[in-house]
Amino acid sequence: MTTGFDIDPKKVESLESGKSYIKHISSEAIQEVYAEKQFRATSDFAGLSEMDAVIICVPTPLDEYRQPDLSYVRSTAEAVRAQLRPGQLIVLESTTYPGTTDEEVLPILEKSGLHCPVASYTTEDVLSEAMESPSPDFFLAFSPEREDPGNPNFTTAQIPKVVGAVNAHSALVAQLLYQSVFERTVLVSSSRAAEMSKLLENIYRCVNIALVNELKLLSQRMNIDIWEVIAAASTKPFGFHPFYPGPGLGGHCIPIDPFYLSWKAREYEFPTRFIELAGEVNSAMPAHVVQSVAESLDRRRKTLAGARVLVLGVAYKRDIDDTRESPALRIMELLQRRGASVEYNDPHVPSLGKMRKYEFGLQSVPLTPEMLRGYDCVLIATDHTAYDYDRIVKESALVIDTRNATAKVTHSRDKIVRP
Ligand SMILES: NC(=O)c1ccc[n+]([C@@H]2O[C@H](COP(=O)([O-])OP(=O)(O)OC[C@H]3O[C@@H](n4cnc5c(N)ncnc54)[C@H](O)[C@@H]3O)[C@@H](O)[C@H]2O)c1
Repeated sequence: MTTGFDIDPKKVESLESGKSYIKHISSEAIQEVYAEKQFRATSDFAGLSEMDAVIICVPTPLDEYRQPDLSYVRSTAEAVRAQLRPGQLIVLESTTYPGTTDEEVLPILEKSGLHCPVASYTTEDVLSEAMESPSPDFFLAFSPEREDPGNPNFTTAQIPKVVGAVNAHSALVAQLLYQSVFERTVLVSSSRAAEMSKLLENIYRCVNIALVNELKLLSQRMNIDIWEVIAAASTKPFGFHPFYPGPGLGGHCIPIDPFYLSWKAREYEFPTRFIELAGEVNSAMPAHVVQSVAESLDRRRKTLAGARVLVLGVAYKRDIDDTRESPALRIMELLQRRGASVEYNDPHVPSLGKMRKYEFGLQSVPLTPEMLRGYDCVLIATDHTAYDYDRIVKESALVIDTRNATAKVTHSRDKIVRP
């Protein structure tokens, strides 16, 4: 039996009434686990003491100074501490810098009077090392979440689960828990190695996306089609993994997580230059897109101020409904600042209400031929598969395509600009 604890009563109510609030998890799947009495949700944290294992997966955002905000992790650790009992396994899954589990979570939990001393272990001999040492009062580990929302090729169970712990006993217990669900677990020699592995995965993406964005800007000046170049390079059967340029980074992971490491690196007087540079290149992309809109309108003897612009796709990536850190929102903000009248369409995001950084107060407009003809510019920010790109190009006066979504459209190429 799994119990979901959340401080948000709306999420608890939704689950308890059999409704999913995450698009790629169906309500039927929720109803099924309720029917089989495998799951329940609650806001009553007193129930934590009944749990054999507690997995913490709360937000780890950046604060207004772009520094790690561990307040959710700390307050959850406090809630767990209040109910902690001997023999419980606690696992942190939130993405964070190396050291969070043993420097932040462990001292909070140990305020209970129960102890879980940090002790090194080797992955090869973890069992014998555990047998030679006294058992801690409770067990503590870190295991990063690895999700690719909207990717139909993997189920959660098929994605190998990295596990690292503060001592050998915790490593064994955490691995046993995850082995019951995941097809493969990968034990590493500390919670810090597990924390760092997640950051490496995300920094790898962030840096490579920045690299390809920079090469796109150069290719434009050299009159070379970067998309053609990537397709050609991708035929190399080894040593190359394609990344694609776009309007900027989005999502709650790639634009944020690398800065958790930059912040921690300062403690070691170590500059993380790749991360800073990638951040600089990627965060300049929305302004580059907006400049391209302005120049394309110029060439049509129009000005951005006063122009009607339709943004297609505000989710941060294809076929999902998540707008967190979406570059489309930044583009909309910049367009508005320059005096454009902005509307949007997104089949997965019916309205844009109040968000942490933005407040557009807009509803997704219908995508009829008449509507398309009414805009000075249609900007493809996210390449949802539901869009009929052929028709969009046909009916629009000007299409700014940040994702090469119109690659297969053979007519009216003179209307398409790829910034
Ligand atoms: N969503 C993903 O695909 C994904 C993938 C990899 C890593 N992560 C990491 O997982 C963590 C969570 O991400 P998310 O996307 O699930 O965030 P989210 O904001 O969608 O969900 C977090 C939940 O935690 C709840 N919460 C906040 N404080 C709490 C507390 N004290 N006690 C109990 N519940 C509390 C919130 O109400 C919310 O429902 C982050 O560190 C993120 O970087 C997420």
